[in-house]
Amino acid sequence: MKDFISLRDLDVNSWRHLMQLSEAVKRQPLHFRDMLVGKSTVLLFEKPSLRTRVTFEFGMKSLGGEAMYLDCQGSRIGEREPLNDVAKNLERWFTSIVARTFSHELLIELADLVTIPVINALTDREHPCQALGDLFTLREKWQEMNGKTMAFVGDGNNVCNSLIQAAALSGISFTAVTPARYKPYPAAAADFRRLSPCPSARYIWSDSLEALEGADVVYTDTWVSMGQEAEEEERLRVFPKYRVTPEVLARTGKDCFFMHCLPASREREVADSVIDSPASLVYDQAENRLHVQKALLLRLLAPKEMERYLHLDKWAAWR
Ligand code: CP
Ligand code: NVA
Repeated sequence: MKDFISLRDLDVNSWRHLMQLSEAVKRQPLHFRDMLVGKSTVLLFEKPSLRTRVTFEFGMKSLGGEAMYLDCQGSRIGEREPLNDVAKNLERWFTSIVARTFSHELLIELADLVTIPVINALTDREHPCQALGDLFTLREKWQEMNGKTMAFVGDGNNVCNSLIQAAALSGISFTAVTPARYKPYPAAAADFRRLSPCPSARYIWSDSLEALEGADVVYTDTWVSMGQEAEEEERLRVFPKYRVTPEVLARTGKDCFFMHCLPASREREVADSVIDSPASLVYDQAENRLHVQKALLLRLLAPKEMERYLHLDKWAAWR
């Protein structure tokens, strides 16, 4: 694995290895503190960020490496000079790139141009680091993943797309409840089947909240993602019936969890009484971004050293 662009590119073993390493990093952070001495990353961000930026910068430093933030919000990557030249410069100075771009294709192009690892810190299509942290969070809460269902309500956008892939790799079922015009990406169902190791796990799309019945966790995201500000008026007409309220959670018929990647537009896609309730995992999710991304950096930048953490039989406790 050179890059981390999409969970579509992973298989179940590499997914489990990342989860196991994340658990080790979270439990014993000091054990790993010098493992990336001499390594470095540049954070190229075309969009704002709190969680992703802070957890990558701090994560890299807490492993002994260096991190530098390069603000690309003024002009998009490849505008001032060709992407090829940006890429060929950066790989002379850094040993990895963490990039948040509008275009998913641009990120793939960047990764193809350099020999160093490139990590997807969110594109318009996917947000794999978020989904990695979120499924790690659920794994901490549930004794057993088997038989669980994650439901997503709202805009079938980047976060939803990566969650579908992450749920598949984790062997759980996934229900996407979105307006028909805002469905997840077209290959979602096929990817789910291909990635899931569990024949009984199901992917369902519906535009009706009735599909939430039986879900063990309800997830939502903003209705107006970064870059979609011009569509705000139209989106605010379509999405209100998908607001996550206590009544919507009750449709699961279970004591379900609530999740959100943040930032949240409170009282828009989620009621305060849900996001601030004991069922809400939002701050656990944010915390775990740090641990899983440290594991990811270790896996990509010190693969040899990490081999000894990658033997499944050593981690029998992991299900
Ligand atoms: N969830 C998430 O990626 O947050 P930021 O946009 O603040 O990085
Ligand atoms: N869908 C949101 C996620 C933010 C973390 C966006 O792209 O703005």
